[in-house]
Amino acid sequence: MQNNQNRITQLFNIQYPIIQAGMIWHSGWRLASAVSNCGGLGLIGAGSMYPDILRENIQKCKQATDKPFGVNVPMLYPNLDEVIQIILEEGVKIVFTSAGNPKTYTETLQKEGLKVAHVVSSTKFAMKCEDAGVDAVVAEGFEAGGHNGRDETTTFCLIPNVRKHISIPLIAAGGIALGSQMKAAMILGADGVQIGSRFAATVEASAHENWKKKITELQEGDTHLTLKELAPVRMVKNKFFNELEGIYQTGRNTEALVTALGRARAKKGMFEGDMEEGELEIGQVSALIDEILPVETVFNNLLKEFEDTKMPAF
Ligand SMILES: Cc1cc2nc3c(=O)[nH]c(=O)nc-3n(C[C@H](O)[C@H](O)[C@H](O)COP(=O)(O)O)c2cc1C
Repeated sequence: MQNNQNRITQLFNIQYPIIQAGMIWHSGWRLASAVSNCGGLGLIGAGSMYPDILRENIQKCKQATDKPFGVNVPMLYPNLDEVIQIILEEGVKIVFTSAGNPKTYTETLQKEGLKVAHVVSSTKFAMKCEDAGVDAVVAEGFEAGGHNGRDETTTFCLIPNVRKHISIPLIAAGGIALGSQMKAAMILGADGVQIGSRFAATVEASAHENWKKKITELQEGDTHLTLKELAPVRMVKNKFFNELEGIYQTGRNTEALVTALGRARAKKGMFEGDMEEGELEIGQVSALIDEILPVETVFNNLLKEFEDTKMPAF
């Protein structure tokens, strides 16, 4: 990929419009700084960090890179005001909020000079982000790993529609692990891409090795979007998933779902390596990931594939 600037690279002062998604239990300072050092934008995932752990990760990231990096703040979790305070105190310049109202923190952060992007899964919410004054929107399709929208709109359908309805910079997410997919997303109207699953199976991701290996073995059809009643999430079909399916088959009982989910299921799976009892979040694109690679290799592959992908003659 040529080193041309566009609205996303200019907004975040980065070299390439490639953002590493904030991911619970994966994106600590090692992953974020490695991506930023390659010329993309690394994001520390605050969702799985106690406030003091987040502060430590930000400080280590500042030592590991002199390039811009950001923090992802999913608004599903507690201690949000404390998290925002730490981000401001530590001088972070970029925040990606998700799973909540874009109005809540955008103005506060922008007043302190930060750039704010917000993640959505529909055109309607992308328009709300524009109204809320965010600097960029991440539009995430149904194929994405982790928490997701209820409408099941795929990246291929979502991006052109969001592009039609908003004029601020747009970042496509969901189902992007190859340079060809990145190019397709940009042809559909995105100014950049946010990549989760591919960076989950990297050497620098903080997830358990059992889980990283499992990602490389997954095939088409091995993930499913479930828990729409609570917070929809795409996960691997394992013993825990089957337990949830059992509850659905005996009638939609939200209370039983909450009990089955319990606490720390995601940590159990992705961080502690329990491949049966844990919640394993990953995107459909895992079927295309067959190796755990260093971030630099993933990054170089993306750039080369992007460059090599040409329109076929027809
Ligand atoms: C393991 C995992 C954890 C995730 N955790 C978060 C999170 O903490 N906050 C968030 O906004 N999105 C989260 N996501 C969604 C990603 O930020 C991203 O939008 C998504 O992974 C993009 O789709 P892809 O997985 O197909 O690349 C997570 C995704 C995965 C795979």
